[in-house]
Amino acid sequence: MSRDIILSLKGITKEFPGVKALDDVTINVERGTIHGLVGENGAGKSTLIKVLAGIYHPEAGEIVLEGQTRKFASPIEARAAGISVVHQEIKLAEPLSVAENMFLGNVMMKGRLVDWKGMRQRAREIVNDLGMDIDVNAQVSSLTVAKKQIVEIMHAINNNSKILVMDEPSAVLTNRELDVMFRIVRQLREKGITIIYISHRLDEVFDLCDNVSVLRDGRHIDTLPIDQITRQSLINMMVGREMGQEYPKEPGNIGDTILKVEHLTRGILKDISFEVKAGEVFGISGLVGAGRTELARAILGIDKPESGEVFVRGRKVHYRSFSDAIKDGLGLIPEDRKLQGLVQIMTVERNTTLVNLPRISPNGVILKDLESKLSQEYAKKLRVMTPSMDTEVQFLSGGNQQKVVVAKWLFREAEILFLDEPTRGIDVGAKSEIYHLINAMVKEGKTVIMISSEMPELLGMCDRIMVMHEGHKMGELTAEEATQEKIMAMCV
Ligand SMILES: Nc1ncnc2c1ncn2[C@@H]1O[C@H](COP(=O)(O)OP(=O)(O)OP(=O)(O)O)[C@@H](O)[C@H]1O
Ligand SMILES: [Mg+2]
Repeated sequence: MSRDIILSLKGITKEFPGVKALDDVTINVERGTIHGLVGENGAGKSTLIKVLAGIYHPEAGEIVLEGQTRKFASPIEARAAGISVVHQEIKLAEPLSVAENMFLGNVMMKGRLVDWKGMRQRAREIVNDLGMDIDVNAQVSSLTVAKKQIVEIMHAINNNSKILVMDEPSAVLTNRELDVMFRIVRQLREKGITIIYISHRLDEVFDLCDNVSVLRDGRHIDTLPIDQITRQSLINMMVGREMGQEYPKEPGNIGDTILKVEHLTRGILKDISFEVKAGEVFGISGLVGAGRTELARAILGIDKPESGEVFVRGRKVHYRSFSDAIKDGLGLIPEDRKLQGLVQIMTVERNTTLVNLPRISPNGVILKDLESKLSQEYAKKLRVMTPSMDTEVQFLSGGNQQKVVVAKWLFREAEILFLDEPTRGIDVGAKSEIYHLINAMVKEGKTVIMISSEMPELLGMCDRIMVMHEGHKMGELTAEEATQEKIMAMCV
């Protein structure tokens, strides 16, 4: 069988201080396919993409594009050669318009003048072609994350790219937006564009990809056609060990009602009531926009409820701020970890301990040894990949930064912990560690309230699931009753 290889990455090696991010990686990509790239957090996926994009220069190896060996000194050269990348962190020129962004680095000229009209026209064509509803004159900063991503894709199309790389595009998208993105990606494949697609959502990889490459600890494990692998074998290749059950739910130590919410109303939230017992894992399901994060914020004193009451341990509470709620034993692993979670220029160690310094300074003075010991324990539990505990978090891979956020709130030992999309962007191995930590918490009689868009995770780990839609509570199901179909039916 002869295959049309558009791109070969040959023997790529890339080191950073203390880490060999890529170790002799060789991957061939077939023309006109969607090629998945998977691996645990820190496996080297983004680094490989940055080498391809001319951002990083490898110590060894070469890039062969359509039979020619290429060296990209800069992203501009890579782009000129037909390689476009939608990075894990979106980088658009926010103050500029959609059309202007689509022509960045590639401005249309009419004689010696910039052809604004022509560019807007062409931009509109591309938008229509994709069946999107985006105003090409809108300022990019006013768009949703999903639309920003689509602008990046349009930039790639406009650039006549041969290869479009997408680094975890789905981590920030809602389900409906995902459908649109999938449709666009498939459409591009029809046009003969080759797509390299990075994701931690394996369903998506199986749904979308033709071939998939697995990286582990900077090494290429294998590349296979998608129909020759099972989910389990893919997971095993990624983690390099036998994984236990995906959702290892164990019963908690159930006690009395610890949190009671009555008729809570605020903004889109309308008259929400529910009760949670100590030792329970309580799930909150719903589409994005259902008001799940808003509910957590209103309970935790981040936003002030307009009406309704919150009782904690039987006592009516009026938290004036989030720190009031923290003092009372509540905690939140926020959805938007990039913004709310970490101090980028602080070390992994200090980020872990920051929200609970008293725990390491029993006499008011920080005990360095205790801080190291405890923070290390959590890093180990969550398998945070970092050269050392003294590394600044900004140098960690995206998913490993998220693990540090989780570690920090677990370190805080909240009695009632809200987890908002706790496993988004986190690899399968670490997901299962988080589930084990949830088990351990509820065994100690602590309470976990889990907001998640991943239904299998809710079904697998919760005792009860509340379903929300457009700010209303649609109902509640016990673990025994709940199925994906029942929840979906309640969501709409
Ligand atoms: N600029 C950098 N400086 C130092 N180390 C880095 C840098 N970029 C990446 N690394 C390290 O290289 C390794 C690979 O990181 P990379 O970002 O490629 O992982 P990834 O597979 O994309 O992970 P994720 O799924 O979490 O996004 C990690 O150990 C990371 O800490
Ligand atoms: Mg990455």
